[in-house]
Amino acid sequence: MTSPTLSLGSHLSPITVSVDLTAVCHNYQAIRLRLLPGTKILAIVKADAYGHGAIPIAQTLQGLGVFGFGVASVHEGALLREGGIQNPILVMGPLQSAHMKDLFQYRLTPVISHRTIFSELLSILPKNVAPYPIHLKVDTGLHRLGMDPEHILEIFQCTQPPQSPVTISGLMTHFADADNPDSTFTTFQLTRFRSLIEHIQSSGFALPDLHVANSAGILFYKEAHFEMVRPGLMLYGYAPGHPEQDSPIRLQPALAATTYIAHLRSLQPGDIVGYNALFRATRPSKIAILPVGYTHGFPRKLTGIGHVLIQGKTAPIIGKICMDMMMVDVTEIPGTTIGQEVRLLGTQGSRSISAEDYANWLETIPYEVLCGIGGKAKKLYQSTEVG
Ligand SMILES: Cc1ncc(COP(=O)(O)O)c(C=O)c1O
Repeated sequence: MTSPTLSLGSHLSPITVSVDLTAVCHNYQAIRLRLLPGTKILAIVKADAYGHGAIPIAQTLQGLGVFGFGVASVHEGALLREGGIQNPILVMGPLQSAHMKDLFQYRLTPVISHRTIFSELLSILPKNVAPYPIHLKVDTGLHRLGMDPEHILEIFQCTQPPQSPVTISGLMTHFADADNPDSTFTTFQLTRFRSLIEHIQSSGFALPDLHVANSAGILFYKEAHFEMVRPGLMLYGYAPGHPEQDSPIRLQPALAATTYIAHLRSLQPGDIVGYNALFRATRPSKIAILPVGYTHGFPRKLTGIGHVLIQGKTAPIIGKICMDMMMVDVTEIPGTTIGQEVRLLGTQGSRSISAEDYANWLETIPYEVLCGIGGKAKKLYQSTEVG
């Protein structure tokens, strides 16, 4: 039996998640201003562009002259190609031999982090075609992905023209701690990276594009910009780590989310709200029921900590957040009505709730908040012409 195909409008969803593409453009230009004119930008759009939607984000950045895109998997890269993205796409996450053919078919550039994968790639590349571009990743201390420096040199040795079926187009590493005001570990990583570069040069090999800096690297380590940088978080409007002392970068959050008041109830002192009676009214109260819950990216941990905005005022989250509902206290907000807009993320009136606020409430980082709220939602894309 086949199930009917429904073309569901976003108006049916209890949550409206919107992405401001003009903000993404602004953030891209703000990053560009931090770089020397020739520095390439590889926009990190993994995890569906941190929940913002990889294809619309990539299409927007393509128009601004971005060099290419970084994704986590062959699957993410293939989706971008199917969406019409033509720029170089680097697959930065772990690669498997089973994915090599698709990697090649979708013209994705592998980041080689292991010698076995390098051999696997060589074994599937057709003969007598132009050398296939690869990037190499050296582990300078993060101990996640990346090869030891001696293995990088071995790959340089066996990929020299004219016979080699591959060409090394890039050499990268990834910072572990660049958002920490204490620069000790980042400096240590940079020193290891530079020592490998010197080794490659003194062995007589030409250097490919070098790239190291994530958002924090861009902001705090100019010396780590090299030929290319890899911003993720900043494209979406959030600066990592500690605030810069002078001229902090001005970014605009791109993701916003609203819902509506589905139901209103009056409580008497002693009445409980929600599972396990976590909230008990101590005064005559009015509460609003919202049709969003942890399935929409609002974890149970927000209970009693977070708030939403109604009429530009804060309404505290009370009772346990349910799978698809949450309750907020609107006693202090006169005139609430069913259907009224509730701001979950973004600005309403003179108040805002940011992914950083959620990160503080949840003891996590804005990355996880954005992926959680943007991830599964059907998104509306907004863009205003700027003159
Ligand atoms: C290898 C690599 N480079 C760059 C980035 C972008 O980092 P950020 O979002 O902090 O700019 C990431 C994201 O995790 C990454 O994994």
